[in-house]
Amino acid sequence: EKVATGVFDNRDEGSVYVAQQIASLIKEKNKLNKPTLLGLATGSTPLLVYKELIRIHREEGLTFKNVITFNLDEYFPMAPEDSHSYHMFMWESFFAHIDIDSSNVHIPKGTLSLQEVEAYCLAYDSKIQSLGGLDIQVLGIGRSGHIGFNEPGSLPTDRTRLVNLNRITIDDASQDFGGAENVPTKAITMGVKTILQAKRIFLLAWGNGKADVVRQAAEGAMTADVPASFLQQHSDCLFVLDTMAASRL
Ligand code: GLP
Repeated sequence: EKVATGVFDNRDEGSVYVAQQIASLIKEKNKLNKPTLLGLATGSTPLLVYKELIRIHREEGLTFKNVITFNLDEYFPMAPEDSHSYHMFMWESFFAHIDIDSSNVHIPKGTLSLQEVEAYCLAYDSKIQSLGGLDIQVLGIGRSGHIGFNEPGSLPTDRTRLVNLNRITIDDASQDFGGAENVPTKAITMGVKTILQAKRIFLLAWGNGKADVVRQAAEGAMTADVPASFLQQHSDCLFVLDTMAASRL
């Protein structure tokens, strides 16, 4: 492979590993009285990481008071109170269960006018950098090879921006939305460049369904056809896999 891989017996073990890495960084930074910047992902893949972090918060008293989060993406247009929004997803699966300050939570806004989007996206990236950059970025991977919503055709120079979703991604989301015709055709996503600027990256993938795209991203050519392959450029990126997602490596 052209990237480092960590293969675990199952997704629970992989998720606990990632949660522990995040928790120990937060503890370290808390001691130094410094903020921890986390880049977070939605989808089913990171759910057990959030669950384990909630457990560590409840049972071991880990505080998220000094944690600042930036989510990768949000559908566009999308109201934050919509049950399909990534805002709702993040609050329900993670933020509501920890002691994070809501002013430290950043999720791209799906309610902007088209005229506002560009400046908003630039400011999203600038804020990350002005706070010192992301310490850890957590990623899933889409069957189209996307990270965040950086679909095929995305480049390592791309920053946060408004993008069109491709057919595979819309099909994969259609069940959640009760039909492909209800899936938004656009999204705001952090760019590949924004992602690559994180100090440390964990890409998580579970199950057979991801085995093929994981192989392309980890071993294939670095190409815009598989945006996740650009992670091969990063010096501290680990693919955290279960045996099924790793089965074609
Ligand atoms: C969506 C998200 C991605 C995520 C992907 C995979 O498209 N924008 O960030 O990685 O879905 O979803 P899942 O984790 O449910 O397989």
